Amino acid sequence: MQRSLVLTRSQQWFARAERVLAGGVNSPSRSYAAVGGGVPVFMQRGEGAYFYDVDGNRYIDYLAAFGALILGHGHPRVVEAVTRQIAQGAVYGTCQPLEVELAERIREAIPRMELLRFTASGTEAVMSAIRVARGFTGRSKILKFTGSYHGHSDLVLVAAGSGSSTFGLEDSAGLPPSVKQEVISIPYNDPQALAAAVDEHGQEIAAILFEPIVGNFGIVPPQPGFLKEVERAARKIGALLIDDEVITGFRFRYGAVYPLYDIEPDLVTIGKILGGGLAIGAYGGRREVMSEVTPLGPVYQNGTWAGNPLAMAAGLACLEVLRTPGLYDQLDRYGRQLEEGLLATARQHGVPVQINRVGGAFTLFFHDRPIRNFKDTEASSSKWYGSFFNELLQRGVLLPPSKFEAWFVSAAHTQTDIDQTLAAAGEALAVVAKAQSRD
Ligand SMILES: Cc1ncc(COP(=O)(O)O)c(C=O)c1O
Repeated sequence: MQRSLVLTRSQQWFARAERVLAGGVNSPSRSYAAVGGGVPVFMQRGEGAYFYDVDGNRYIDYLAAFGALILGHGHPRVVEAVTRQIAQGAVYGTCQPLEVELAERIREAIPRMELLRFTASGTEAVMSAIRVARGFTGRSKILKFTGSYHGHSDLVLVAAGSGSSTFGLEDSAGLPPSVKQEVISIPYNDPQALAAAVDEHGQEIAAILFEPIVGNFGIVPPQPGFLKEVERAARKIGALLIDDEVITGFRFRYGAVYPLYDIEPDLVTIGKILGGGLAIGAYGGRREVMSEVTPLGPVYQNGTWAGNPLAMAAGLACLEVLRTPGLYDQLDRYGRQLEEGLLATARQHGVPVQINRVGGAFTLFFHDRPIRNFKDTEASSSKWYGSFFNELLQRGVLLPPSKFEAWFVSAAHTQTDIDQTLAAAGEALAVVAKAQSRD
């Protein structure tokens, strides 16, 4: 267990970073502003389930690049595929076989993606899916759920979750009022709000956009029957259903999660895991709807990096490994061990917490009531999450630096990692309990 973490080199790098990068970071989610404002740890390298920072400290990694890494860092099959491909060119700007092969693998795993397109990020995938839905329906409004994050394009930053919520921003500055007027945002897991929004705006809504299991105000699963209600609402008003599986795609099973809820989205977006650690996104859906996309139809989407052979090679290798029998069972088993161990220790120390878990992904909330929507997560304690985060960092366990994010177990984690994490968490919760008793 590390008790006096030396971060001299991280401090030096952050000082340099602040001079050249806005806020010293390339993504606000990497800042430690929401966990007490310390210097973000600068990582030198990742290896399997571990990070090694620039000062030589080791961490068990549960950030997993915000869910992008399901195999851990540098899986040999992915490294081999990328190395082979880069020698033959990283980006072509032409058609090439790997994009077809990966698209075929996706369609086998996610049958609703009858026709699809690759993009360079989840942001682009969702942005493009929305454009397709608007083109197809001839309507302009989007119904989404407050606090759900769908990337950083203008439209979906209205009432966005995770990153912007971490900084107390409801939206982002720079969104034109006309854009805000196009978004209706309602609480997740609230059938009454859904029914009311649909009654009021029905014929103007092009699509209902949702995360089937929320990952962006912590892990929040749908209440029984809620997604069926969402589907019914979309069908009633003739809007499309856009299922954003950028986090959930290939995370809990080989494919998407929508079949588990007995729904049939019109469009599905995926990303993160799909790229095997390289930048990627994809959107696709019903053939009739995707036939709107140029050159088949009038909805335009393009991209220098879309379907680049490097990401395709990494994605193919990753999906191949994900077919390993028992892989998802192991993620679930370790996730359950962490959940049960954390709850038991928290109880022992008298610290009120909630854990929402699906398979190997979960969030520990410092709160005394169940977490079902964004407001619940907002009400959970940032202060105690920040203390817990820092205590675990000291002990060589890296969590996401925000209460709005999730822990991700990867296939590289071992039983020893889980045991060490629980031992470290026990100490961290004891520190939190002591601080709470003084508060
Ligand atoms: C559900 C969801 N959609 C879209 C995105 C955007 O993906 P990217 O960060 O690859 O642009 C994210 C990113 O966290 C996400 O969680």
